[in-house]
Amino acid sequence: MICIQNLKKEYIGKNARHIALNGINLTIEEGEIFGIIGRSGAGKSTLIRCINLLENPTEGKITINGDDLTTKSPHELRKFRQKIGMIFQHFNLLSSRTVYENIAFPLELQHMPKAQIDKKVKELISLVGLQNKTHAYPDELSGGQKQRVGIARALASDPVALLCDEATSALDPETTEQILALLKKLNKELKLTIVLITHEMDVIRKICDKVAIIEHGVIQEIGTVTELFLNPKTAIAKSFTESSMHLKLPADIQSKLYHDPYQQDNLTPVIKLTFLGDAITTPVISDLNAKFAVACNILQANIERIQSQSVGITICHIQGEKDKWENALEYLHQQNIKMEVIGYAAVNAF
Ligand SMILES: Nc1ncnc2c1ncn2[C@@H]1O[C@H](COP(=O)(O)OP(=O)(O)O)[C@@H](O)[C@H]1O
Ligand SMILES: [Mg+2]
Repeated sequence: MICIQNLKKEYIGKNARHIALNGINLTIEEGEIFGIIGRSGAGKSTLIRCINLLENPTEGKITINGDDLTTKSPHELRKFRQKIGMIFQHFNLLSSRTVYENIAFPLELQHMPKAQIDKKVKELISLVGLQNKTHAYPDELSGGQKQRVGIARALASDPVALLCDEATSALDPETTEQILALLKKLNKELKLTIVLITHEMDVIRKICDKVAIIEHGVIQEIGTVTELFLNPKTAIAKSFTESSMHLKLPADIQSKLYHDPYQQDNLTPVIKLTFLGDAITTPVISDLNAKFAVACNILQANIERIQSQSVGITICHIQGEKDKWENALEYLHQQNIKMEVIGYAAVNAF
């Protein structure tokens, strides 16, 4: 549906050029919630603003439903943009207009007849749950309510896609949950395609189907959200997923790990098991003892939801004689769980 090919964006400053996007390729399918995550300055806002050509690409092609936006005239582009809604971190509402008037605004610009505007605005207000705030001004609203107005206004022209630039970054965690639930509902009920950029992996984990990680204007990793959590390949993907799974190893554990099993006598492996669904590791772990006569000391365990699936991560220290734990690791490799040796530790380290 949205296809970005070889997108490059350079900002030319007084003395220097800055490459904000460097060869982005992305395809976003209809009905998908597609997340783009990156740290501050990675190029996320530039990328999302290029999707509707609010920012002019230096090179590359953006097509939406087969229509190449980069070849459109300014007039055609203005018309086309009505089909792409956008919401922002700071809501960008008109402070002198009420909720009703903010939502009606894009329709007035399109010269829609008043009665039709009235019907549409009332539908949108009820869709986002603001019936009791119809005539309130933005100053009288909470952050979550302001974003609901932003969403209703973005949907006024029946867009084919909604672009969200850090739409929950100014909201507290509870309000963030509510806005994400609303976006998910709109995605399901209206089959609305959503492109969502954020610096928070929790946002991605909660509602996105697919995710791309961007760093220095380049896509580092791309895939389904479940794939990314189960098998992050790049350092940045690992860092995002670990922080979201609350699985940064505590410093006192980390400090007792050796890279090499021969750095000291009698070191045994510390492993990380990642598993999907309800195939909890307990049977596997008790197998280790029964089958291989090794002990398994669980250092950390966590189960998190990724959309409707559970993903568990367990970190354990395997203890026993070398040939036994080697066999145990071999056995784990053959199971339907991911196993990674993250270091080696002495028997009484923990
Ligand atoms: N209008 C601009 N002129 C010059 N540089 C810009 C402009 N907009 C963004 N940049 C630079 O491009 C890079 C990416 O910015 P941005 O897309 O806003 O990142 P993000 O949204 O990921 O924080 C940053 O280094 C930023 O300073
Ligand atoms: Mg930004």
